[in-house]
Amino acid sequence: MQTLQVDVGHSRYPISIGSGLLAHRELLDTHIRGRDLLVVTNTTVARLYLAKLAGGLGARRVAECILPDGEQHKTLQTAGRVFDALVAKKMNRDATVLALGGGVVGDIAGFAAASYQRGIGYVQLPTTLLAQVDSSVGGKTGVNHPGGKNLIGAFYQPLCVIADTDTLATLPDRELRAGLAEVIKYGCVWDPLLFDWLDRNMAKLLQRDVEALTYAIARSCEIKATVVARDEREHNLRAILNFGHTFGHAMEAATDFRTYLHGEAVGLGMLVAAALSQRLGLIDAAIKDRIRDILGKAGLPTEAPRIGAAKALEFMQMDKKVQAGTIRLVLLEKLGRAIVTASYAQAALHATLEEYFA
Ligand code: NAD
Ligand code: GLY
Repeated sequence: MQTLQVDVGHSRYPISIGSGLLAHRELLDTHIRGRDLLVVTNTTVARLYLAKLAGGLGARRVAECILPDGEQHKTLQTAGRVFDALVAKKMNRDATVLALGGGVVGDIAGFAAASYQRGIGYVQLPTTLLAQVDSSVGGKTGVNHPGGKNLIGAFYQPLCVIADTDTLATLPDRELRAGLAEVIKYGCVWDPLLFDWLDRNMAKLLQRDVEALTYAIARSCEIKATVVARDEREHNLRAILNFGHTFGHAMEAATDFRTYLHGEAVGLGMLVAAALSQRLGLIDAAIKDRIRDILGKAGLPTEAPRIGAAKALEFMQMDKKVQAGTIRLVLLEKLGRAIVTASYAQAALHATLEEYFA
């Protein structure tokens, strides 16, 4: 088992990464105080892992809240089902929510924990690669609104993150690839050596080589923990972790959250952001080509949907990085270094949107 620490000042918690951790009772025991637990999961993950987790929970009062599966259910209404379960079981402030699943379950359960009785503890038990490398760490929680992605939410750190790498064995190939998009992101914005490593080891990752996956998860969490420690609330630095997201979220929202997996949309968004960076003269074409090539190697889409430049822009305007009506974008200065900027030539943005979305 590998253990990393996240330290945001007011909150410090471990990320444990390894095999067999869902049934590792002492690991949970260290972090849970009260006797009431609510396991929040979805229909798919419940079938696969609920019994394994429940077996290790001991003599506590354990309730379950099993949500429908899918990004389209990441709504206030679904979060309401978690509140209903907490109230139905008369859970108090010492109750703990266990979020067992991918990023959708983690974001909803974390949001419910942040709001119920003004905040109860929660543990992230991520079961997708995307959740293990990104969404379970750093305390962003929330739900979507028909007008845009993750518009309702809270920064609320978990008590701990326990990433059992065994769960990746049942993950569909498409979901594994979507998770790799976020690992590629860390290479693009922070760590060119990770990017090179991914280039060399993509076949191993796609074959689910445990050692390669564990390295990718641990390095990603290390980078995320470093960034979040410096800027928990995304005043500046943390926004680089949204590389590709402004364009990606627009693609997701414009297709009603049904066409693309989040990681796929982020991958395409990184390509568009790299193309804009190139158009602005920040990077040369070779870097954009390397990003497109590695996305292709990971089996991710490399052709953006023709949603229309105007529609893309409309959704981008709902991005949380918009300030005083200006869309701030994450662009690349080189491989491994990103900037967050509102000063770019609007004509370059429009030309890039035309190129990819018209
Ligand atoms: P997801 O939660 O929808 O999970 C993907 C699919 O895999 C689902 O069908 C799920 O039921 C299934 N699944 C989960 N674990 C499985 C397993 N071990 N075996 C088989 N199937 C399994 O999607 P995701 O990619 O994990 O997360 C995407 C969400 O995360 C998006 O809503 C995105 O906005 C959010 N996100 C949040 C943050 C954050 O910082 N909070 C960061 C990145 C992404
Ligand atoms: N996924 C981006 C962030 O957590 O900031």
